[in-house]
Amino acid sequence: MMDNDSAAKRIHELRTVIEYHNRRYYQQDAPEISDAEYDRLMRELQDLEAMYPDDDLVSSPTQRVGADPLSKFSPFSHPQAMLSLANAFSSQEILDFDSRIRRLAKQDQIDYVAEPKLDGLAVNLIYEDGLFQRGATRGDGFTGEDVTQNLKTISSMPLRIKQKVSRSVPEFIEVRGEVYIEKKPFAKLNRRREEDGEDPFANPRNAAAGSLRQLDPKVTARRPLNIFLYGIGTVRGIRFSSHWEILKTLADWGFPVNPLISQAQDISACIDYFEQIHSIRPGLPYEIDGVVIKVNNLSVQESLGNVSRSPRWALACKFPPEQATTIIREIVVQVGRTGTLTPVAIMEPVSVGGVMVSRATLHNEDEIIKKDIRLGDTVVIQRAGDVIPEIIKIVESKRNGQEKFFRMPSHCPQCGSEIVRVEGEAAHRCVNLSCPAQIKEHIRHFASRGAMDIEGLGEKVSAHLFDARLIHDPADLYFLTKEQLLGLDRQARKSSEKLLEAIARSKTPPLDKFIFALGIRHVGEQTAKILARHFGSMENLIKANIDDLTTLNEIGPEIAQSIVEFFSENKNRKVMEKFHLAGVSPLAQDTVTDTTLKGKSFVFTGSLESMGRNEAKALVESRGGVVQSSVTGKTSYVVAGSEPGSKLDKARRQGISVISEKDFFKLIGR
Ligand code: IVH
Repeated sequence: MMDNDSAAKRIHELRTVIEYHNRRYYQQDAPEISDAEYDRLMRELQDLEAMYPDDDLVSSPTQRVGADPLSKFSPFSHPQAMLSLANAFSSQEILDFDSRIRRLAKQDQIDYVAEPKLDGLAVNLIYEDGLFQRGATRGDGFTGEDVTQNLKTISSMPLRIKQKVSRSVPEFIEVRGEVYIEKKPFAKLNRRREEDGEDPFANPRNAAAGSLRQLDPKVTARRPLNIFLYGIGTVRGIRFSSHWEILKTLADWGFPVNPLISQAQDISACIDYFEQIHSIRPGLPYEIDGVVIKVNNLSVQESLGNVSRSPRWALACKFPPEQATTIIREIVVQVGRTGTLTPVAIMEPVSVGGVMVSRATLHNEDEIIKKDIRLGDTVVIQRAGDVIPEIIKIVESKRNGQEKFFRMPSHCPQCGSEIVRVEGEAAHRCVNLSCPAQIKEHIRHFASRGAMDIEGLGEKVSAHLFDARLIHDPADLYFLTKEQLLGLDRQARKSSEKLLEAIARSKTPPLDKFIFALGIRHVGEQTAKILARHFGSMENLIKANIDDLTTLNEIGPEIAQSIVEFFSENKNRKVMEKFHLAGVSPLAQDTVTDTTLKGKSFVFTGSLESMGRNEAKALVESRGGVVQSSVTGKTSYVVAGSEPGSKLDKARRQGISVISEKDFFKLIGR
């Protein structure tokens, strides 16, 4: 046993040393000690803290290592809504924004703050009396996901606000910012994923979002997440008068604030800033997609207010899409999970806005003919945001006559079956349902992030398991055993335990994710959500006939047909039985516990005073109702705001109840 003083001293020492190594590892990517040594220090600190609890425990590095896994995230309702930004794509639009503000604020000149627009994901952090309490993703702006434990693992995020003499710590504050991953650690993360047979992330933003939305905080802790804070929501116990003052105070309090933020005394200074940041963009360690300009004075901000879901006082000025020139070396044909053949151009690797690109989708044969793309062509490619690079045009002057025309193959490059092109469709398709490429792709889709989210089951591993004849369909995953996996190569063996755990964890998926994962043609994520909400269980969905399905506004005859066909096919029925046998039991969304609006459909028209359309939609849906885009025989209420459109006339003609925004709130008991 140590005496209290030496324990306190050692605890302090360990915290400082571990924080230093965290910075070396996560921020500087230059660890000085082995993982084992680091673990030893951490364990010593944990043991001491258990024996000698102190006040600083809340901000100790032990609080960041990652709590136990969750089965799902709890919804988190933001005390103040997180708005989004209006976009501008040209200097003219930036000037128009400024004219509008000067007119509304009745001022000749407006003071702005200009900031880089980081391409990550927005989060809201709640601090009470200086201590980090909870944090959440933005979600729909009103309700996000509580990712508190994951946020704690971000070493640059303070767990406690640094007390400053100049500025006392507020009782309550919502601090807003962007979680992101830098370009280099992103590339490293993807290299590691590929080595492990996992699918690489498409871009740093997806990687950041995927990492923060991990149910196991220990996984998040290993991801190189970073954060910059750029604003606040509700604050109690302290007053600010300008946005610049907020940013400076956040920095003083120990929050990472982007060092490139700048004050701009008028709109031309903002445009200069935009140009300057655009020119240094390729050399920045992180991805940005524009700059944000914000009115500096908070009382001016307040007088301007919001329009729908964006503040009138801020503007996202987007950079034009990045372009580059390269040469097409090869055109390969990929077979998707529904058998569609997609031609893909393999190009000389080229950097587009700091990201190396060597593949671009050519969509289909018609597209290739339309753009007259040939093998060996020099082409201009473009990457806009997170979109897969696209070929904009060929550079005709670079042709030397050696370029070759491309033809779609007449037989599937994977299984050799004949390829068909359905009349009226652009796609060529392999219609062999047992085509291995389709099955592999189907399994990969099933496990992918938007679907069952089985970590470690990317393209390579799915293909490997299929080729080894261990699985023939997604349900087989749940019957895999450790012994079977041990028969595979070294790489696969290494991760087998983790993989089996991830598969087992996926046995109680949200119903909508499961429906999406099945890969029914025309059923994307959105449709899957609608089906899950309406039918509430797999049994009900399987029983549904075309009429049941088409009563749903969003489900047209083509989707309905595809769903019914899917569940009537013998092969699929067997797979569903296997899921059942394996104990896979999708959970209906329990977010809809309030059923005051069950069976009611709403149409909104005109502009609403106190809420945006998405909020209105969320309010209806969270109470079991549906929102329709137009008035039909099934509409229960039309909610009319100011300056309603033709929907109102239609509702009146059809004798449908028309109610005001106030009535609507009464109806939902708010
Ligand atoms: S301010 C009310 N500042 O852009 C204004 N947003 O579409 C709220 N973003 O969801 C946002 N960098 O994720 C602001 N310096 C910055 C930003 C920034 C990135 C993101 C943020 C937000 C989205 C707005």
